[in-house]
Amino acid sequence: MKKIFVGICTGIVFFLNACSKDDAPSSAILATPVANPATEINDTSFKAKWNFVSSAQNYLLDVSLSRDFTDFVTNYNAKSVNDLNDIVMNLIGGTQYYYRVRAVRGTEISNYSNVISVITSGTFVNADTLLKVKAANNFFVGAAVSSSRLSGAYNTLITTEFSSITAENEMKMETIFTGPGTYNWTQADAIVDYAIANNINVHGHALVWHGSVPSWMNSYTGTDAEFEQLVHDYITAVVTRYVGKVTSWDVVNEAINDGGGTRNTIFLQKMGANYIAKCFQWAREADPNVLLFYNDYNTSTDISKQNDVYALIDDLKTNNVPIDGVGLQMHIKYDSPTKQELQTDVDKVLARNLKLHFSELDVRANSNDSQVLNTLTPERKLAQKMKYREVVEVYNAIPATYKYAITVWGMKYNESWILNQFNRVDWPLLFDNSFNRKVTHTGFLEGLE
Ligand code: G3I
Repeated sequence: MKKIFVGICTGIVFFLNACSKDDAPSSAILATPVANPATEINDTSFKAKWNFVSSAQNYLLDVSLSRDFTDFVTNYNAKSVNDLNDIVMNLIGGTQYYYRVRAVRGTEISNYSNVISVITSGTFVNADTLLKVKAANNFFVGAAVSSSRLSGAYNTLITTEFSSITAENEMKMETIFTGPGTYNWTQADAIVDYAIANNINVHGHALVWHGSVPSWMNSYTGTDAEFEQLVHDYITAVVTRYVGKVTSWDVVNEAINDGGGTRNTIFLQKMGANYIAKCFQWAREADPNVLLFYNDYNTSTDISKQNDVYALIDDLKTNNVPIDGVGLQMHIKYDSPTKQELQTDVDKVLARNLKLHFSELDVRANSNDSQVLNTLTPERKLAQKMKYREVVEVYNAIPATYKYAITVWGMKYNESWILNQFNRVDWPLLFDNSFNRKVTHTGFLEGLE
């Protein structure tokens, strides 16, 4: 009864105010509203409230995911409200929102009110939490790095947020293998030494990959047997150099074609179908303890490829080839793969009793060539955040024995390979160009709940 009475009174006050708008002296300054703490908070909505402003006709309500109001909730960028409160709906549980309000009289708009912070019910994740702290000892949280980006703000970020690093490029054949029997260790050593100095894990990437064959190898004129010997010597040299320093290697990377079938690489041509097994064997001989991974991409959505990847792995296992794990490259999009597609892929790794590495994680906000975004919309940003959360949730839910690492493929937006590859803007990583955490980072943390 009391509630109804208060409601009627509020309505009358609002009505009288609206009626008296023409009487208000036009010179009177339109006051700034005072926003009040939210009420009726639940998982998906809350009631935003504010005080009456004399002579206001309506109010403009902003609701955002960020305190600086750069990420508006859909339909809440200056939403016109003819009342002193509004139920903000379609929200996410356990998430921090902010709101503020302005009063309107004719063409006049007041200053912004104070900002109210509200957290929807559900498990809340403090966005200031560090990734590696949240993942605790469950698995490594990795980042792709380069030797020229290990100091200053990079150093701060790596050492605070991450427990593992991978050379994005500098431990590939094209960098290290400068000629038959000659090796350039400079950048690789710098990265490994940095990791050791900072007590950070190193995942090695990648011993054999068609995408990083030195030009001298591509034009090699020796016999196939000599070529094979070169690859053997290379794997032996690299793995041996980092025994006890590098925990794991992608031994063979991307050996299956998009759409299925064995990729026709120089290694296949010169060493035969057995080349993958040989590479794993040589890596094992060089280091009996290092973890050996097969690494590939798009296996959750390209089912022909998925089938052939697991057929390859089955074949390796049947022949007692030493393989410890699978790296599922997570170069994914805000809307794909679905959680179910991802889970199916993951289950195939676990069913083979292999460790799982979510390697090379980045989530494109631009996924459809015909609808390229030049600025990141709030809706897309949220969808991208939710995809990060989903990926981490799936990983976090697997049994401990299969966990190894989730490695994010870079740190700052503008340094992501995605921008070059697709020749357009994107925001695929966890930090912006100024090293600030973005909502994708919060999505990662929420996936660890
Ligand atoms: O460092 C040189 C620079 O000196 C030169 O001026 C410039 C001119 O093109 O090239 C620079 O090297 C580039 C390098 O990235 C560093 O930015 C190479 O051209 C470029 O090809 C290389 O691209 C890398 C790509 O692998 C090929 O190795 C990407 O950074 C790296 O993110 C990408 O990573 C791969 C994984 O290894 C395997 N899975 C797919 C993933 C994406 O392609």
